[in-house]
Amino acid sequence: MTVFLNGKFLPESQAHVSVLDRGFIFGDGIYEVIPVYGGKLFRFTEHLSRLQNSLDAIRITNPLSSAEWEKMLTELIHLNNDGDQSLYLQITRGSAKRDHAIPENPTPTVFAMCNELKPLAAEIISEGVAAITIDDIRWSRCHIKATSLLPNILLRQEALDQGAAEAILIRDGQATEGAASNLFAVIDGIITTPPKGPMLLPGITRDLVLELAKNNGLSCQEKTISLAELQQADEIWLTSSTKEILSVTQLDGQPIKNGKPGPLYQRLLTLYQDYKQTLRNQPQKQP
Ligand code: PDD
Repeated sequence: MTVFLNGKFLPESQAHVSVLDRGFIFGDGIYEVIPVYGGKLFRFTEHLSRLQNSLDAIRITNPLSSAEWEKMLTELIHLNNDGDQSLYLQITRGSAKRDHAIPENPTPTVFAMCNELKPLAAEIISEGVAAITIDDIRWSRCHIKATSLLPNILLRQEALDQGAAEAILIRDGQATEGAASNLFAVIDGIITTPPKGPMLLPGITRDLVLELAKNNGLSCQEKTISLAELQQADEIWLTSSTKEILSVTQLDGQPIKNGKPGPLYQRLLTLYQDYKQTLRNQPQKQP
């Protein structure tokens, strides 16, 4: 695997970061995960704009221009054989003597790598997944895509320990999102997702699902979802760049309606696959 680190494309085994890097010491950094279909970056402008918001929120100056990001990432994808990939990029504040205070002129560390992006298993699409609900133990700046993900890791692991695929997080009686995904519920026939704000990550997949639903005449709303509403929902979905749209068919061990993915899920998944196909059919950009 070829990765990008601080201006160079390198074999992964030769890419090294200082032990004083604040990403290593403090988790002082932000990241993005961008899907790549047929070698092409998916919703690139949207991902780059969220990256900028995360950088601004933690006071790191963007080390690259939009054109430089696009050129570098396109080259990295190409060096890793194009196709479908999940592109991970991370910017940390760089290395400095350990001190909580932000160093004066740090040089950010810029890292990017590609991982295989596998299509969802047929069984997951036909049967859906199980989820648990659990107290949201994270901080109150969840809109920042920060690399410090310890709470998310513990929450996801709790779900896995209970035989579920994802943890749906509850704060003050309201469902916010998943440990690494956004949340949708079909309530009284309306596709509902919690509004953006500091308690959840503004997911790029979330926005696309809303856009596809609206463009195809399906009713949707951005509204808080209480735990009771979630338990009574006709359908529950989770969205993310790596899992696209998942149907939750069991919540805390109870089936959601008849325990099968619902009709609106199937509709949205088809619209999503069609959207991906249009990207695949576009001409390839040259690195
Ligand atoms: N996570 N909410 C959280 C907390 C997430 O970590 C993610 C994605 C999402 C969905 O955002 P998007 O649709 O832009 O992928 C929502 C990525 C995939 C990860 O951490 O690997």
